Amino acid sequence: MAQRDRPIGIFDSGIGGLTVVREIIKELPDEKIVYFGDTARLPYGNKSARTVIKFSLENVKLLLKFGVKFIIVACNTSSSLALPALRRRFKVPILGVIRPAVEKAVRITPAGRIGIIGTRATIGSSCYQREIRKIGPGCKSFAQACPLFVPLAEEGWTNDEVTLKVARRYLGPMRRKNIDTLILGCTHYPLLKKMIRKAVGARIKFVDSAKEAALEAKRMLTRDGLRRRRASGFPGYRFFVSDEPERFRKTGRRFLDKKIEFVEKV
Ligand code: DGL
Repeated sequence: MAQRDRPIGIFDSGIGGLTVVREIIKELPDEKIVYFGDTARLPYGNKSARTVIKFSLENVKLLLKFGVKFIIVACNTSSSLALPALRRRFKVPILGVIRPAVEKAVRITPAGRIGIIGTRATIGSSCYQREIRKIGPGCKSFAQACPLFVPLAEEGWTNDEVTLKVARRYLGPMRRKNIDTLILGCTHYPLLKKMIRKAVGARIKFVDSAKEAALEAKRMLTRDGLRRRRASGFPGYRFFVSDEPERFRKTGRRFLDKKIEFVEKV
């Protein structure tokens, strides 16, 4: 099979990476996708760097079995902790979600005051903060871990007063620091946009790491002549998990914004 006709591989700790799949389908509708959600070992967001790196290496190995031409690390926690190790180990091009989001934030921030929210491991790694210093040295960053957002999004409490209370408690201090731009640095947060918006105020610009990663993937595949041709027929999506395929199928619908027909367990 020609290189460009091979699928894109995407992995995440579980279900959240479907927000990245959703954006990829929007930006690159002709591409085949193989998705792996490591549902048996989630969440990654409160695990050590060593564990997240080990799991991420295994996930890439699995995706390579499907002959993928390009890999997207949809998980912000894996992107923060494991990207250098993955790139050292494998030859396939691997894109993480951190850099595209930071580039966008630095481009649009009016006064260089950028907030970052993510899992404990993402924020603790300082990966976003380091990228901001590199790409936008004049900018100031303000980071806050929001670990309760993941279960709230999975529970479907996306428009709920409990979620709003939690959001206000996490984001109040950031709001008082007068941030003007906020990076949603976790797969699950696009689902909570409404509540996060209420907590930080209407004038703050949001950067969705899933959307920016999809745009960057499109740019890279175009540059490298790796885009699949439309004439090659319906692209086809395959979803794999390490546990509870049925739960993934049901909950995944909200994250993907589409019905998932079939999920396979590996
Ligand atoms: N996918 C993770 C992330 O984007 C959130 C869920 C988890 O902690 O595993 O950081």
